[in-house]
Amino acid sequence: SQQFDREFIDHIYKLTNIIRSISKSKKGSLFLQGLMPHYKAMLYFMQPSTRTYLSFRTACQILGIQTSDVRDASISSEVKGETFEDTIRTFSSYFNFIIMRHPKEGYAEQAAYCLNNSERPIPILNAGSGKDQHPTQAILDIYTLRRSFEHYGGLEGKTILLAGDLLRGRTVRSLSKLITFFPGTKLILSSPEKFKMAEDVISFLDEKQMDYEVSNEFIKHLPEADAIYMTRVQDEHDTGSDKSEKSFPEFSLRAEHLSILKEHCAIMHPLPRREELDSAIDNDPRAKYWRQERNGMWARAALMTHITGYDKKIMSYWSDICK
Ligand code: CP
Repeated sequence: SQQFDREFIDHIYKLTNIIRSISKSKKGSLFLQGLMPHYKAMLYFMQPSTRTYLSFRTACQILGIQTSDVRDASISSEVKGETFEDTIRTFSSYFNFIIMRHPKEGYAEQAAYCLNNSERPIPILNAGSGKDQHPTQAILDIYTLRRSFEHYGGLEGKTILLAGDLLRGRTVRSLSKLITFFPGTKLILSSPEKFKMAEDVISFLDEKQMDYEVSNEFIKHLPEADAIYMTRVQDEHDTGSDKSEKSFPEFSLRAEHLSILKEHCAIMHPLPRREELDSAIDNDPRAKYWRQERNGMWARAALMTHITGYDKKIMSYWSDICK
């Protein structure tokens, strides 16, 4: 997410809205599907995923992009000792994008770096890298937050409560960085002491002179939050000797808390969830997480058209419709 700036975020926001609107008509859907049929995307997912995988794949379908996937290391020649770099270079021979999720931090950058000087330096889209980054999730989270506050003065100046395993949650790390583009916004970083936000993110927030508070309390912050972003325990990152709890009951949002939330509070979660987000909340109008999930395909489609320059065709089609 360090590659982004406010202009980019604003453009993707606008483009996401336009792609959503265009796709509502049959004519519009056919226009989008005809945009990039000569493009091919590799979905290289070396960690489990339901929604990121599906939303990227659906985004490709919306734009007519053909997809292939490698979702199981045992079917890749990496098991025969091929290096990660050679695997990436092989994908670049056949595809126009690599969309990758990897358990190791920094591997998306490493993939981009190894293609830099090759004859096919195709884009790498990071779909989640270790405990480090989930930049496209942050893009759709910002989109969802902005939509939620469209009639409440926008995202600027709002208080966002991030709660749960902030140390190992890559979604909250990426989102914290993108939020700094919205002046006057305050972050409350609420977690058990052992899982508080890492120092590199805190230093980034200091550098950007962001208003934030680190707290090991949760319930007390609920009444002041304009948005609550829950996260689960990321115990897939446990090491053999150091096993974390399966849930933090005191960092759980339950139906009985709804009465103390602001009327316009946006309740979010990148999903999947466990006990930290009570399913009894799902039907409350402030629960935005299913919408947040669905926004993924539109935001990711917008991103892919932007990096290939096809956003200009979409903008031009839209301005013709709006004439
Ligand atoms: N939010 C998210 O990254 O979900 P998946 O792990 O299901 O892709």
